[in-house]
Amino acid sequence: MKKASISFICQECGYDTPQWMGKCPECGAWNSLREFKDQRSQPKAGRPLAEKLKTAKPKSLSEITSDEKNRISTGFSEMDGVLGGGIVPGSVTLLAGDPGIGKSTLLLQLAINLSNVLYISAEESEEQVKMRASRLLVTNKNDLLLLSTTDTDTIIEIIEKQKPSLAIIDSIQTIESANIDALSGAVSQVRYAAQTLIKVAKMNNISVIIVGHVTKEGMVAGPMVLSHMVDTLLFLEGEKTTQTRLLRSLKNRFGSIDEVGVFTLAENGMQEVRNPEQIFLTKHKDQTSGSVLSIILEGTRTFLIELQALVVFSKLPIPRRVASGFDARRLELLLAILQKHARLPLDTMDVFVNVAGGIKVVDPAVDIALCLAVFSSLKNISLSHAVGISEVGLLGELRRVSMLEKRIKEAQKLGFKQIISAKKYNTIEEVLKSVGK
Ligand code: TYD
Ligand code: MG
Repeated sequence: MKKASISFICQECGYDTPQWMGKCPECGAWNSLREFKDQRSQPKAGRPLAEKLKTAKPKSLSEITSDEKNRISTGFSEMDGVLGGGIVPGSVTLLAGDPGIGKSTLLLQLAINLSNVLYISAEESEEQVKMRASRLLVTNKNDLLLLSTTDTDTIIEIIEKQKPSLAIIDSIQTIESANIDALSGAVSQVRYAAQTLIKVAKMNNISVIIVGHVTKEGMVAGPMVLSHMVDTLLFLEGEKTTQTRLLRSLKNRFGSIDEVGVFTLAENGMQEVRNPEQIFLTKHKDQTSGSVLSIILEGTRTFLIELQALVVFSKLPIPRRVASGFDARRLELLLAILQKHARLPLDTMDVFVNVAGGIKVVDPAVDIALCLAVFSSLKNISLSHAVGISEVGLLGELRRVSMLEKRIKEAQKLGFKQIISAKKYNTIEEVLKSVGK
């Protein structure tokens, strides 16, 4: 009866192999494979669980039940859009994001918007969740069940017993099962929790949303392992210093993955932003020259970034070219193209370029944005609402980049109208003629 097979699982990407290896063949990480005893065939420990159940009781704010056969609206049109029209009953969704980005806040609001939700927090006590709810200006009138526990098996039993229409588990990295010989957050615990949660969701037609934290190094021991298992993988992202939050789906069995939801994290929770141009454009209200936007692709994710350039007269025989966040040789090349094909007098100018936000860009799609930023600084004209998405070739021709339609869609969704790409222009000369005054 007891048959535990041994496998080795990469802690970085979740790659599974029966044999130990020094290097993960999937993600290339060294020394990341850990032994994992797969105990799925073991029976659950009966008695201790019954005892645990006595102490763990979800508390009710009040009670209503409703039967929704089709997609469940989250109460946020931005989120419904990302999900492809709402939550599918019986589906399992993973909401991933940096710690402190607003996942718990968003999900608690969602839980308040809906009926018959079981919110399981393994990070905060019921009182803390209640305090958060009061911060969201919510009174006791909701039929929201709260449970604070870190035991995976208890959670499963409670979900089966309560049969909510939606169960929220916050977070997968902080729950653990006694059936698995590892600490919470370990790949084996996360996998076990996901497996059992998916099973209970599918068997009882209960929608489940799981929270997963993403760490600095990437998706260690969490979302990456789960992404293959869940139906939908959502990412909540944004800079902690700003209030803008983007919700996007990286995987969706029930909808497109091109949609982006825009929110701001306000005093009383997450607020939907129906006209995202407001938040993105106010930053550039001042008519500064030397700044142009672009949309880059990281994996399947798109990011809006700002390229800055400063062009000044040089006092040196060999003018300076300084690039930060951008390949210096590529900068030299683009400046030579601008000089040759657009006849810009850059050989007497010092050129400094920077990618705002301290990130490093290798995506060739920013070429045109960089050229435009240089042009903007040189001519002292503002192009800070323009989004450039194209590679620039040696002959000064614009080249289409991968996923151009997706990038354009993203820029439009963010409210930008001046989108400069190979779809509309053929050469850099043409582009400069159309934007120059
Ligand atoms: P939280 O949802 O706890 O993040 P996560 O679950 O992703 O770790 O959000 C944490 C931050 O959100 C915290 O800095 C406080 C802030 N916050 C607001 O700005 N407004 C609110 O209404 C609430 C509840 C939190
Ligand atoms: Mg949280």
